[in-house]
Amino acid sequence: MRLNDCHSFADFRELARRRLPSPIFNYIDGAADDETTYDRNTKSFEACDLVPNVLRGVENIDMSVKILGQNLDMPIYCSPTALQRVFHHQGENAVAAAADKFGTLFGVSSLGTVSLSEIRKSYSGPQCYQFYFHKDRALNRVMLEDAKEANVDVMMLTVDTITGGNRERDLKTGFSIPFKLSLSGILQFAIKPLWALNYLTHEKFSLPQLDDHVDMSDGPISIGKYFTDMLDPCMNWDDVAKMVEFWDGQFCLKGVMSVEDAKKAVDVGCTGIVISNHGGRQLDGSRSPFDQLSEIVDAVGDDIDVIMDSGIQRGTHVLKALSLGAKAVGGGRFYLFALAAAGQLGVERALELMRLEIERDMRLMGVSSISELSTKNLRFR
Ligand code: LAC
Repeated sequence: MRLNDCHSFADFRELARRRLPSPIFNYIDGAADDETTYDRNTKSFEACDLVPNVLRGVENIDMSVKILGQNLDMPIYCSPTALQRVFHHQGENAVAAAADKFGTLFGVSSLGTVSLSEIRKSYSGPQCYQFYFHKDRALNRVMLEDAKEANVDVMMLTVDTITGGNRERDLKTGFSIPFKLSLSGILQFAIKPLWALNYLTHEKFSLPQLDDHVDMSDGPISIGKYFTDMLDPCMNWDDVAKMVEFWDGQFCLKGVMSVEDAKKAVDVGCTGIVISNHGGRQLDGSRSPFDQLSEIVDAVGDDIDVIMDSGIQRGTHVLKALSLGAKAVGGGRFYLFALAAAGQLGVERALELMRLEIERDMRLMGVSSISELSTKNLRFR
């Protein structure tokens, strides 16, 4: 199987599965507890059907949107995700380059493996920073200052990771950071020699956003344990208000799920929210963002940019979310499997296929711009 054989999310996932050592594949693919929320996230799009119109003259399709002050050429962006150089040696640089080429937003994580400022200097496209709020308040201040200095366009504070999700696949495989080729796992890696060769012959694993500040000398820990040990469960709305004030720019809360919290996000001055359950990786049993979307749009859709992520695999999923009032959607695994499968070329192919799907589906729906989509296009079963 090669990159050209990949036509869908499922194909990229399969190619990634073949190319990655199993602990790494399972880290990306896995979710919390019984993974019911992970499963539901994509299934939830089946709760409704699209109702197309015909004979509308849809030769020219404009799928551009504006969110968080950024003009995007397509309504899906690459959500910030951690550890990308572990998945493919090109890591965040590949994702940034591909997103730049397709005119969409991408994010660098606090747990990213390339420095925020380095990426900012190399690519001019819209960039957000996924901020993890640490117990160490001085570290939070330094991270905010670094992001300001780097001229990041959007601050995206993740609020659903104040403690680690129970990722049982990681507990079984031992996947941990700082990422090292452990002796016990060496067999896993020996059977994926191409990945191992690339990993070992490229720049050593590092977490540039954190390396100077976080002492990891106690040895590798799982991502779940990192969240639990390092991130601050006391983070509250006052902390967010202070961050918003300090940032003084586009500020988005990622991981909002209730109407009450969406209203509070408006009150403290956020300019956007991402309705998200972290791809099912945190609270299993949590409702899916798509199921939760319309009540949040009804409550705050005129006051703040409502965005959603989690579970998006198809162009039709994007159109359903936008019809319900999301301004754009984010995707994680949809480009991560492609990154793992083939680096920058893989991410470009995933974005190109998604762009073509959205374009084709808009034509078939009889709409030539995103603003024509509305709840009139949908029927719930
Ligand atoms: C995860 C974090 C790092 O879900 O976003 O693994």
